Amino acid sequence: MKVAGLFSGIGGLELPFRARGAHTALLCDSWDASRSVLAARFPEVPLIEDVRTLDALPRGVDVVTAGFPCTDLSQAGRTAGIKGEASGLVAHVFRLLRHHDVEWLVLENVRNMLVLDRGRAMSYLVSELEQLGFRWAYRLVDSRFTGVPQRRHRVILMHAVASNRYQTDSPCGGLTSSLSRVSFSHWRLKDLVEDIIGQAISRDRIGWAHLEAD
Ligand SMILES: C[S@@+](CC[C@H](N)C(=O)[O-])C[C@H]1O[C@@H](n2cnc3c(N)ncnc32)[C@H](O)[C@@H]1O
Repeated sequence: MKVAGLFSGIGGLELPFRARGAHTALLCDSWDASRSVLAARFPEVPLIEDVRTLDALPRGVDVVTAGFPCTDLSQAGRTAGIKGEASGLVAHVFRLLRHHDVEWLVLENVRNMLVLDRGRAMSYLVSELEQLGFRWAYRLVDSRFTGVPQRRHRVILMHAVASNRYQTDSPCGGLTSSLSRVSFSHWRLKDLVEDIIGQAISRDRIGWAHLEAD
């Protein structure tokens, strides 16, 4: 299993995959401080500085992870929205996916993305991904349930190609309803998401919050 991490930060989304035996084929981050951490944590992995200059993903990538910038989506940020200069960089994820048969995508961002501009960000993300043939599901995860003394909500979106053998015929691709029992090779998808959050923040236990669609 090969993973390409975009907007990798300190590798919070990529570490759990590696912990489960996946190969990290590429990392990408433009901030020097992040790049230092990534170089220490993933010394063998090619590290690209700017997603805008990345022409293609490495061959055979199965999973793309992208905790894209929240600067334009966060309540504490500029709130320019999903087409803002920083958060709008997510468009490069779609550009890169157009040329590859990637089976899984994990996107991560702040809770405010769900409500800002009446949900325009979610609408944009899922329509782009559906055009690329992905089905999707999301969970809102609260860091306090991972054992750290702070409250941070993060949206984790999981996307799987529609032809993925774990899909069913339910409206959102069966991914939501089967999140707790679907298996991803020998991994359970729910365990993987829990690991992603656990490793990104801290590890104890995860609280799952089902959100109202509106
Ligand atoms: C929300 S953080 C990602 C956090 C990450 N998932 C982690 O576990 O640490 C977004 C990251 O995007 C990076 N970034 C911003 N513009 C970028 C660009 N043009 N190319 C690559 N990375 C960029 C930032 O430096 C930042 O580390």
